Amino acid sequence: MDFVFKVCSEYRRILKPNASMVLFFGYRHAGWIAHELQRRGLFTFRMPLIWVKDNPMPSVRRTTFRSCYEMGLWLINDGGTFQQPRTFNFLTQARMRNVMSYLIGRDGYKRTQHPTEKPELLTRRLVEIFTDEGDIVLDNFAGGGTTGVAAFKAGRHAISIERETNYIAMITKRQKAVEQRLSQESAKRA
Ligand SMILES: C[S@@+](CC[C@H](N)C(=O)[O-])C[C@H]1O[C@@H](n2cnc3c(N)ncnc32)[C@H](O)[C@@H]1O
Repeated sequence: MDFVFKVCSEYRRILKPNASMVLFFGYRHAGWIAHELQRRGLFTFRMPLIWVKDNPMPSVRRTTFRSCYEMGLWLINDGGTFQQPRTFNFLTQARMRNVMSYLIGRDGYKRTQHPTEKPELLTRRLVEIFTDEGDIVLDNFAGGGTTGVAAFKAGRHAISIERETNYIAMITKRQKAVEQRLSQESAKRA
């Protein structure tokens, strides 16, 4: 787990003061990592953000529960001093619940073959809450590139980093298709 704290020290260095960060983590580790980030003077843990999967995978052998949620840690880049977030765009009461339901893949927004692609509407919602138009959104575990695409559609800039060549190809193709569609739409409006 040293890797997590090394990476988070770099986030502390490069993110703007009091910027928000959302780290999705397995439930076994989320609690103590949140606590440790604060104890080490890196980030303040504000709240869990829960993605409820309305179409969870079946429990094939029927020996355990079906896994129906993922937890994101909402963290503030404030050295663990409990500051207000730099940006917090309150949407509507309904859209500010910290439990958010989205389908895996089948909501019409799955765009790649990446096995753990997040719903684009979920990442877009988080981008709109935690950043303003023109801001830069970083996802350095980009996978299928969902965060970058959501950021781009919401009028933000995006930096996407991924180590697997085949996923980089997916991200590039997806990003180009979105750029093309947005520029066609803006040409129609002009
Ligand atoms: C859980 S997936 C991210 C899925 C993404 N949020 C989406 O919606 O498509 C994590 C990704 O991080 C990539 N990854 C893991 N370690 C990495 C590293 N050290 N540098 C860059 N990418 C890495 C993996 O290849 C994987 O595609």
